Amino acid sequence: MDKNQWAYSENVKKHFMNPQNILQIEEDKYPADGKGMVGSPACGDMMMVLIKVANNRISDFKWKTFGCASAIASTSALSELVLKDGGMTLEEAYKVTPEDIIRELGGLPSNKIHCSVLGDKALREAIDDYYNKNNQKNPSQESVSRVVCDCKNVTEEDIRMEVLEGVTDFEKMKEVTGASTVCGKCEQDVRDTMKKFVEQYYKDDIYNPGE
Ligand code: FES
Repeated sequence: MDKNQWAYSENVKKHFMNPQNILQIEEDKYPADGKGMVGSPACGDMMMVLIKVANNRISDFKWKTFGCASAIASTSALSELVLKDGGMTLEEAYKVTPEDIIRELGGLPSNKIHCSVLGDKALREAIDDYYNKNNQKNPSQESVSRVVCDCKNVTEEDIRMEVLEGVTDFEKMKEVTGASTVCGKCEQDVRDTMKKFVEQYYKDDIYNPGE
């Protein structure tokens, strides 16, 4: 199959046609315990996630987006994943990755992978917001990822997230993260780390259904 063609799995279509857990009321009428907002209105890919928390578990998850079909399907699937079996704990929910969501969807075309990161980013922001509001430290933030560029404190996770956003070019990575823009000694490490994630997400079509 042509790699440039978009192949949506049945699950993506199902979630897009019938998205779950969308916020149906005015935001100020929903008593959220935490709120996350990511994206930019200029790009038209805003995502808002509102959560309720009970006994350290996410008891409700509502969302709203101006994103594309893939962003809608991804966040709908994410909301079901997080609320399954009485709701994930905050720690479990903080660790949900775009790969988890893509698997739940049964694949996503590689040129749409960046859309799937909006929901889980907004969810992490909502969890951070919940801890902030309660004057608590988020224990999940302590598991920091390896620092690749010391000068700019850029981690593997930062690079992974940018690759998922579609940054696959070294110069662009320098521009958006600042990595390798000071002493330059991290250049090879930044390139290798990028390569690892590019191969994982874009060369290997394990996430692409029908190929
Ligand atoms: S360690 Fe990355 S620029 Fe210095």
